[in-house]
Amino acid sequence: MKNTIGIFVLCSISLVQGQHKKSMNTNATIDQKVEALLQQMTLEEKVGQMNQYNGFWEVTGPAPQSGDAQRKYEHLKKGWVGSMLTVRGTKEVRAVQKIAVEETRLGIPLIIGFDVIHGYKTISPIPLAEAASWDMEAIKRSAQMAADEASASGINWTFGPNVDIARDARWGRVMEGAGEDPFLGSCVATARVKGFQGETKADLAKANTLAACAKHFAGYGFVEAGKEYNTVDMGNATLFNTVLPPFEAAQKAGVRTFMNAFNILNGVPATGSTFLQRSLLKGKWGFDGFVVTDWASIREMMNHGFAQDGAEASQKAVTAGADMDMESHLYVKELVGLVNNGKVKESLIDDAVRRILRVKFELGLFDDPYRYCDPKREKQTVGSAAQKAIALDMAKKSIVLLKNENQLLPLPQSGKKIALIGALAADDNSPLGSWRIAADDHTAVSVVTGMQRYKGNTLVYAKGADLTVGKTTFIDELVFNTTDTSGFVEAIQVAQNSDIVVMVLGEHGFQTGEGRSRTQLDLPGVQQALLEAVYAVNPNIVLVLQNGRPLALPWAAEHIPAIVEAWHLGTTSGDAIASVLYGEYNPSGKLPMTFPRNVGQCPIYYNYHNTGRPANTDNNVFWSHYSDVDKSPQWPFGFGLSYTQFTYSKPLMKKNVYSKGESIEVEVTVTNTGSRAGVEIVQLYLQDIAASLSRPVKELKGFERIELQSGASKTVTFTLNDSSLGFYDNEGTYHVEPGFFNVFIGTNSQEVKAVQFELR
Ligand code: NOJ
Repeated sequence: MKNTIGIFVLCSISLVQGQHKKSMNTNATIDQKVEALLQQMTLEEKVGQMNQYNGFWEVTGPAPQSGDAQRKYEHLKKGWVGSMLTVRGTKEVRAVQKIAVEETRLGIPLIIGFDVIHGYKTISPIPLAEAASWDMEAIKRSAQMAADEASASGINWTFGPNVDIARDARWGRVMEGAGEDPFLGSCVATARVKGFQGETKADLAKANTLAACAKHFAGYGFVEAGKEYNTVDMGNATLFNTVLPPFEAAQKAGVRTFMNAFNILNGVPATGSTFLQRSLLKGKWGFDGFVVTDWASIREMMNHGFAQDGAEASQKAVTAGADMDMESHLYVKELVGLVNNGKVKESLIDDAVRRILRVKFELGLFDDPYRYCDPKREKQTVGSAAQKAIALDMAKKSIVLLKNENQLLPLPQSGKKIALIGALAADDNSPLGSWRIAADDHTAVSVVTGMQRYKGNTLVYAKGADLTVGKTTFIDELVFNTTDTSGFVEAIQVAQNSDIVVMVLGEHGFQTGEGRSRTQLDLPGVQQALLEAVYAVNPNIVLVLQNGRPLALPWAAEHIPAIVEAWHLGTTSGDAIASVLYGEYNPSGKLPMTFPRNVGQCPIYYNYHNTGRPANTDNNVFWSHYSDVDKSPQWPFGFGLSYTQFTYSKPLMKKNVYSKGESIEVEVTVTNTGSRAGVEIVQLYLQDIAASLSRPVKELKGFERIELQSGASKTVTFTLNDSSLGFYDNEGTYHVEPGFFNVFIGTNSQEVKAVQFELR
């Protein structure tokens, strides 16, 4: 996969130039240093800082043209490259950094970006799964762990977190965000930014943190019909109240970079959107980091019909506020000419370069450009036992128990014959999920291996059927139309001779992620047929799902007694799953995205607006529904069971009338009425009953993760304030309006108890 040819030849010249250092006042502030450096730069060198190239081996977008690699080396040596992506490893990063620092006139170090989305070498659960933990400390630790590993391997900038809110499970990238809710999404965005970058701005200068990147700005999660890269057309109510809040949360948490998006938003490509990048992000929100484009998204503005050639695309992108060109290769080609012919003001170039240099200074790259290139640290850190322990904790917390009839789970630890069925049960690659470029293939713990660690039962494995035909990689289209059912006979026999059957079914890790939209949300291939064939001989089935998006599995939901949502959990997947199946870990995850009954219900989400005809009161057809399926989802947002049970008191408020600006407290007492300790995620939803704009039927405004021993109770107090009560109007202005509000508290978005108050 990797080809390092060429790097070392090019590194043999080691002239220490770094002119800027001679005039650098070490006591100056970062902004003064940036200004001093900017003054020394030629226009070509400035534009060079705005140019980012992919490395020389893996690609995460359309393949490069021929001659590309050679041109990149040449530009690197001229100082016309500000950043590289997907270069990894201390040796490789040092090699390219050395060219930038030692062979160019000013010696400005590169910022090295990488898609550290859910881990680097040690892979954490996919972000959607992590969001299911509702555990912000664990999510932060998982990001810290990834930052620790990636930074030890030469990288100093991650293209994460993805904070795209998504409501349509057909979109392959739902695996990469925190689900459908802007409040949960904002909390997760904050946790991930702090995990990658550290708690304070000063932490960015540590050698074990990464600059983070909030993406994709904005609206990408709303591609029409869930089809990848598709058009986005959305009203301002959704944009301001649903899509933008997690981005603003990331900005408030101090995220140093943003990535714009491939999609058009109401006719304007996000990459060319002055409204998004200049007015909102850099204007109203005061963001002083930089914006990188998505892969070739400047060039793609021509396909969108927004620019007729590369020059116009570059002009529009830079004017709109896109600071760094990822792989369009257009800024480096066009910007100098555009400035010289007066079409782009040099002040725009200066603004972009200031922002890029600022982040490089903050990272400490000018103090020591090789600070991320210590092979000893790389060896000690990458893939260490400590990293795996963090990934395992995260993986257990991400699992959601969807059904557990007659307490089939947890499994007895001894004396049983257990059949383990399904290609995914023995798969040690798929659980690594989609964004795992730096991980070694086949390094996940499979469910078979995880369960084998429990010796008390007899375990017999049968594959049943293959999941895919042909190769499964990050860039190849996968083939799932396998029709081979010849393995069913063995699976049926094994099931017949067992007390309990554990079936591991779902999607391959590479069936989700970028470029992997689906029109079906079923079990790919012949897995559904396998499930039904096994059920016919032994219905005592625990179905373990591995998938990167909500699936629609109505038959399984009705017939299978126990269902565990185990996503793509990363390196330690099988260990986490086994510990939940055997009851060593009591599951506590809650769905961050609604699971539909069928694909036709998509997009489906809990915080919808009421229609004028929300319910059938007269037993006729004139109400908002589908004629062929129940209106409710299969499993709602926030849903997840435990091996114990919790009861909720009625929510209590001290008063029923409050004034604007006042803190409003709501209390609820939760009791563990089951026989074992467990964790519950107590959820608070709010409804502004009548407002100047229609408000959703419910909006998550608080949650708390509590641990309770059997029989114990805890009173949880939520505090609501203006930031919980208001909403954005269609011009983007935030309002808190007087009137009546419903507060709902409960174990998921559907099972809640209500209390009402008035705001005056
Ligand atoms: C395209 C993806 O949309 C983006 O999220 C990613 O960071 C870049 N490729 C770089 O790999």
